[in-house]
Amino acid sequence: MIRFSSIVRLNQPVRVSLQKMRCEPPLFAAWAELALYSYTFGLRVWYEGNSLVTHVVIVGAQWGDEGKAKITDMLAESADVVIRCQGGCNAGHTVSHQGNVFKFHLIPSGMLYPNKLCIIGPGTVINPHVLLQEIDTMQARGYSTANLRLSDRAHLTLPFHALLDKARENALAGKKIGTTGRGIAPTYMDKVGRNGIRIGDLYAPQSFLTERLTHTLEQNKAQLSALAVDIPTLSDLQAFCKEIAEQLKPYVCDTVALVHQAIKRDESLLFEGAQGTLLDVDYGTYPFVTSSNATAGGACTGSGVGPSQIDQVIGVMKAYTTRVGEGPFPTELHDHIGKHLLEVGQEFGTTTGRPRRCGWFDSVLARYSTQVNGLTGLAITKIDVMDDLDEIKLCVAYEHRETKERFHQFPSHITTLAELDPVYETFPGWKQPLQNIRRYEDLPTETRQYLKRLSELSEAPVQILSVGPERDQTIILEEPFQKTASLKKKEHSHGAQEPSLIS
Ligand code: IMP
Repeated sequence: MIRFSSIVRLNQPVRVSLQKMRCEPPLFAAWAELALYSYTFGLRVWYEGNSLVTHVVIVGAQWGDEGKAKITDMLAESADVVIRCQGGCNAGHTVSHQGNVFKFHLIPSGMLYPNKLCIIGPGTVINPHVLLQEIDTMQARGYSTANLRLSDRAHLTLPFHALLDKARENALAGKKIGTTGRGIAPTYMDKVGRNGIRIGDLYAPQSFLTERLTHTLEQNKAQLSALAVDIPTLSDLQAFCKEIAEQLKPYVCDTVALVHQAIKRDESLLFEGAQGTLLDVDYGTYPFVTSSNATAGGACTGSGVGPSQIDQVIGVMKAYTTRVGEGPFPTELHDHIGKHLLEVGQEFGTTTGRPRRCGWFDSVLARYSTQVNGLTGLAITKIDVMDDLDEIKLCVAYEHRETKERFHQFPSHITTLAELDPVYETFPGWKQPLQNIRRYEDLPTETRQYLKRLSELSEAPVQILSVGPERDQTIILEEPFQKTASLKKKEHSHGAQEPSLIS
């Protein structure tokens, strides 16, 4: 692919020689220069209109379950490669397409398109049985998995990791985290403790794998026995590895090499985040978090792509807030409205089936999400769930229960967060169904008023609005892949300016 910069470079000597010719004969030189400029400009317009390549990160901007899978599935149409970067089968991504519902835990949500390369990246942790089951299900439903690739750097969840996860959680008695019980924390603990087994180890010389399995067993024995979990034998683990190695083999490769080949071919990348910002191990409501970086940085470390390659970061947020598991949640509703959001929004965990805790939209949290992810835009989902509400509240700040001090920045410590009450602005409900609306201008004034304030306080423009579960039940204010192209055009001329999208 020819880059615009190289066109300019190629034309430079010609332009210089034309300038030299200016005096003799001047008219011809001026005409030729004009023709050359037109040609270059034409090429530039063609190039910018058709070939600008965009790399977009999708992150959950609340506590997970924001509807990332629908947005990923929808944007995947414009991407060439879709990459899952972190987390494991604790994620539950639901995609609804033409009335068919697909639930993914590990497979990227771009898999429904036949021609997209779908990568499970180095930052993920893999329960092979869950992955193989998903592959079987996809194939049984008539979808090819030929374009699926699994990183040889990803870590393997061994059978004892899930047992350990549940046993650790039970031992916490009244201080439970509310994990999904899928062995995610124990797998990441072994990873950072350098005791982990990577997918690539399955194909290393036998002696290497045996040494690694012996080491991981030794390192975990004390904890397994303290928590009364059956300690597997080395041969149990060897048998497990042998069985899955064969089945996973067609999918395993060095995905870093693959992604960079795609970048060289000027292909567009879509990074699919899992969980959400407030579940991020560094920026979430620690310790009520998952064990990976669910924020935008995790897309880089979890895929092997540098930050300079990322053009857009889209934060997916529900028009209200939910969370599963334990931990403080300032806008949580324990009344009939919380119940309404739970029931109408079908807020039950995809992975565990647990009911989610529901509350009003929290713009302090949303702004924090904009900060730590560098959000360039928002995708607001499930706004239709609020269609029947008489009035809608939006948390605009927190107030300390005792001192009445106002907080506009999300606190770094959960003990502070637990002492804060939400300060609300109240909006009238729109009291009409939104699911069939496809243009922003056709939304009721009340909906637009709510979204405008939400966007203002979140300090990011609303780019996508989801009004129902289906792919087409979406209002696109600015398609992220096209937005980058238009911003890049502006940079060429005046420098980038953030457009105001809603009024
Ligand atoms: P873990 O990731 O299973 O260790 O669980 C840690 C916390 O993250 C718990 O509160 C889980 O409910 C939450 N969690 C993990 N994955 C998801 C997800 O995909 N959506 C929402 N919450 C999640």
